[in-house]
Parts: sequence; structure tokens; C-alpha cells
Amino acid sequence: MAKTSRKPRARNRSGDAAADAPGLPVRRIAADIVEGVLRRHRALDEMLEGADALSATAALAALDERDRALTRALVAVVLRRLGTLRHLLGLLLERGLPEKAPRVETVLLVGAAQILFLDVPDHAAVDLAVRLAREDRNALHFAGLVNAVLRRVAREGKEKIEGLDGPVLDTPPWLFARWTKTYGEATARDIAAANGREGALDITVKSDAAGWAQKLGGRVLPTGSVRAVAHGSVTALPGFEDGAWWVQDAGAALPARLLGNVAGLRVADLCAAPGGKTAQLVCAGANVTAVDRAPGRLDRLRENLARLSLHAELICADVERWDPEQTFDAVLLDAPCSSTGTIRRHPDVPWLKRSADIVALANLQRRLLHRAVALTKPGGMLVYCTCSLEPEEGIAIVADLLARDASVRRVPIAAAEVGGEAAFISTDGDLRTLPRHWPDADSRLAGIDGFYAARLEKRK
Ligand SMILES: C[S@@+](CC[C@H](N)C(=O)[O-])C[C@H]1O[C@@H](n2cnc3c(N)ncnc32)[C@H](O)[C@@H]1O
Repeated sequence: MAKTSRKPRARNRSGDAAADAPGLPVRRIAADIVEGVLRRHRALDEMLEGADALSATAALAALDERDRALTRALVAVVLRRLGTLRHLLGLLLERGLPEKAPRVETVLLVGAAQILFLDVPDHAAVDLAVRLAREDRNALHFAGLVNAVLRRVAREGKEKIEGLDGPVLDTPPWLFARWTKTYGEATARDIAAANGREGALDITVKSDAAGWAQKLGGRVLPTGSVRAVAHGSVTALPGFEDGAWWVQDAGAALPARLLGNVAGLRVADLCAAPGGKTAQLVCAGANVTAVDRAPGRLDRLRENLARLSLHAELICADVERWDPEQTFDAVLLDAPCSSTGTIRRHPDVPWLKRSADIVALANLQRRLLHRAVALTKPGGMLVYCTCSLEPEEGIAIVADLLARDASVRRVPIAAAEVGGEAAFISTDGDLRTLPRHWPDADSRLAGIDGFYAARLEKRK
């Protein structure tokens, strides 16, 4: 993707951080990243993890860990509460947003998010927002407006948003309408509310779940994952460097287990990077061939396996064209999808995806599943999964396959295979987790990513 260029800043063009007011770089980078998502349709993770050419990505890497964490929190809260923030600003901006200065909206969003949802003194949030506005050639003229609006947010904002329907406002209408159609309005609301909270830190351990739960101050979930409150840098936690565990949402940890006992089997992990499921399969004793078409993501898979001291054969290929000599005893296909089940962890998803993406992805998923069937040997198991809440990317793909390919049959999943959670199993015997599952009095420990999985057997 081409590198985007921002207009030169009216002030501090040198980019000399020493000339900045304390806290200003964090707000500037947060604003740039928010714009990266909302105006340039860049994936948040790629900007945060250094895999994007955006200058904010490099600037973020230069911050110390504390400021990086604050930047991430700031961006996340703006994206999680975007509908609410925009609604509030709409109430306070008598003449709307200035069309020729898009930076004004970003500055207001970042400023208001600090005042309403983060532990930042109001005066600091307002002052830094005004400075940020002054840096932009076009927003410069609206610094007074930014000051006035954010002062009102500080005075009246909390009260004004109290009566709003936050979860619904914070979900794009097309997505909320979809969930209402699929799950009913009450469940759609619960999903939207769950998406407003950051997911807990879930990890998959190589062994001794109870011991790691104790060391990390967490608990062992009924499905075997360990869950702790998310805070600070994961890489600094005990056991990370030693490769004792890896970060993996409890929902994401379920599909690989549905292949059953894979010890000694040849297993193909299709669409494998960054490798959470590959690691599970290798730990379970399988000889794994992990395939992904994205070289950069495959590099991450390689690094992850190296940290965990696990071995798999890695293949950089398009699954649609990959044609190995032998079929596999078992196949896992974790197909690319809209990721609407992972909004708790990826708050950019609702603002990046469009309804049309779901149609295009469903076509790709259908083709990949067709290929996965061909790669499964007669008598072998195949698990198809996506982290989408959309039936077009889950049940519809499998129903379509079963209707036109008599060589496969569904092998229903039992609640006992997923920690006894009957709520995770659909009437068809597929896995269907929702972010609203596993409510908890401590909201920091609630929820699970929305995963769909079906288990199929290729007939002999
Ligand atoms: C949902 S992610 C996989 C997550 C992974 N299974 C895990 O557990 O860590 C989907 C992956 O599919 C890969 N992908 C998309 N289309 C592909 C194709 N046609 N062939 C191979 N890989 C593909 C993407 O690069 C991406 O890494």
C-alpha cells in the first residue's frame, strides 16, 4: 500500500520531540492512528505492531512503554466509543464539523475520550488538544473552537452521555441490524455491550494450567485456557520469554481441540499465521504443516514457534493453489473472515469492514473449504472455523458444502468437548461462541471471542 503523506504541520515541523509539551507526542500519535483507521482504512494491529509504513507507527515505537500503553488505550477507547463520542460532539457543535479541517474531529475525539473515559485531568486533555489543533495548517484556525467544545465536554459531557444508548451507538447501524436479524435484538445488544469492554488476557499453556493461573493471578477456565486481567506488557510476564504459554483468546483455543487426539497424525493447519492453533496442534503431538500466504505473518508464526521451542513445517502458499503430494489425516481451516467476533480485541473492525466485505469473504471461504476437503484423506477429520459472528461466514458455508458434497458429513460437537458449555453449541452441533458468553461480576474477566466452528469427516 502506498505511503500516505500528511500536510506539513504548521508548528514543530522539525518533529523534534524535545520541543513538544509533555504528553503531546502521545496525543499526536493517537490522533494519527485514529485517522489511519477512520480515514485511510488501515488495520489497527498493523499500525500498533510496526507493520505499517505510517509515520505514526515509527513514532509509536520510539515512545517509552508507559506512553505506548497510554497511546494504545487512547486509540482503543476512541474506537470503542466512537458512536457515543461523535453523537456528543454533534450535540455540542452548533455548526457541525469544519469540512476542510478533518483533523479537528480527530483532535476532539481524542480530547473528549480522555475527559470522559480515561484518568486524564480535564485541563491537560483540553490544553493538549488545543496544541494538537494548532499543529495542523487547517485545524489551526479552529483551536478556539476545540478549546470551547472540550471545556463543555468537561462540564456537561458525562451527564449528556448518561442517557445515551452507548452499545447501539458504538456499533455501525448495518452491523447492529445484522446481529439483530441473526440473534434477536436482546442478544445483539448484549454482543454490542460486550464489545465495549477490552477482553481479558487469555493464554494457552503448554502444561500446568493451575500453576500458571496462580503465577499470573488468574484462573483456569472450564475449557482449559488461563484467564487473567489484562494490564501492562505481556512480554514482561513470567513464562513469556521461556515460551511456557502464548496469548490466545479462550474462544480461539477451541477449534483446534475439536480435531480430537491428533498425536502422531499428519495435520494441515490452513491459514495458520500467526500460529496460535499451530502451536496447540504441535503441543498435542501432531506433525503439523502450517500454510499461510502472507510472508510477514508467516515470519511471525516462525518467531512464535521459536519462542515456544515448537516445530512445524511452514509453507508460504495460497491454499487455493497449494497442491501437496499427500493428503492429511486431519485438516484445520481457520479462514480469513470479517472478524466481527473479535471486536473486543480489535475495536477498528466495525469501522473498517463493510457489508460487501462479508459477501466477498464468504466466496473465498467457500473456495478454501472446498480445497480443505480435497486435502483431507478419506476417514480424516476437518475443522472449519472463523472468528465471525455472521452466519454467511459460518453455518451457511458449511450448509452449502454439505448440500453439494456427499463425501463429507458433519460430526456434531458435544458440550463436554468445550468445558461443558452447552450454550456454546448450536442446534446443528457446531461451535458458536458469542462475546456475551461467560458474563462475570468483574467485567475485566468477562466474555469470549465469537468463534464459529464445524467438524466434518471425509467419508471413507
Ligand atoms: C484468521 S487468520 C489465521 C489465524 C491463525 N489460524 C491463528 O490461529 O493464529 C487468517 C489467515 O489466513 C491467511 N490467508 C488468507 N487467505 C489465504 C489463502 N488464500 N491462502 C493461505 N492463507 C491465507 C491470512 O494471511 C491470515 O494469516
